[in-house]
Amino acid sequence: MQTKNILGIDVGATGIKGAIVDIEKGELIGDRIKLATPKPATPDAVAAVIAELLMQSGYDGAFVGCGFPAIVSHGVAQSAANIDKSWIGTNVEELLAKTTGLDVIAMNDADAAGLAEMRYGKGRGLKGTVLLITIGSGLGSALFTDGHLVRNTELGHLYLHGWVAEHYVSNTAKKKYEMSWVGFGKRFDEYLHHIDRLFSPDLVILGGGISNDFEQFAPYIDVKTKVTTAEMFNHAGIIGAALYAYEAKFGELEQNR
Ligand code: BGC
Repeated sequence: MQTKNILGIDVGATGIKGAIVDIEKGELIGDRIKLATPKPATPDAVAAVIAELLMQSGYDGAFVGCGFPAIVSHGVAQSAANIDKSWIGTNVEELLAKTTGLDVIAMNDADAAGLAEMRYGKGRGLKGTVLLITIGSGLGSALFTDGHLVRNTELGHLYLHGWVAEHYVSNTAKKKYEMSWVGFGKRFDEYLHHIDRLFSPDLVILGGGISNDFEQFAPYIDVKTKVTTAEMFNHAGIIGAALYAYEAKFGELEQNR
């Protein structure tokens, strides 16, 4: 029987994280490894760090899942907002398979995090339109309709007041423009109103670093959509990447059918 313990990797703008995941439980087995994202984060440099992470993990499976901070279509990176531009057009799966010797299934990082949150976290069992937004260096999105993922939605790149949304409100924008929580909260609320007008979600789940500080900016959020924070926060990207890889190979886990 195919093992349900899969290595999940989450490539971020500052760190590359990974752990072996028990995908039946949606939990990490053993330690979460975090290595610095190389600068510049070129394909070869990132691949070398992933090979190092694989070695440190002691993983002996045949394939891994890898969440990547860009549009990933049929294994190929199609954008590079928060990673080196030389990734555009790179086949992430082929490159990483060559460096690691394993089969690699790549997907957008927010899609991976959203999948984990829908299966094991706050979105569990929810029908309707659910949107996960990750707030980090960029703004990531994962859109679900009746539990099904609509991939690569990139809602952090919607335009808001003539700005790319993630340049207007994200962790990076907060630092760059020295925003207080009031300022950040108000901007994020504008973003949520825009999202609400377009998608009328039943629930918005916030993930990524800043979601940990939700209580600091929650008082300034008055959009009518229900907004909550992710349950798995730090691990969602890793867990979702592992689950996604498994299901890409073998179909949906039985317990979720
Ligand atoms: C990228 C998305 C990614 C998000 C979070 C954005 O800049 O365009 O693909 O999901 O950052 O990493």
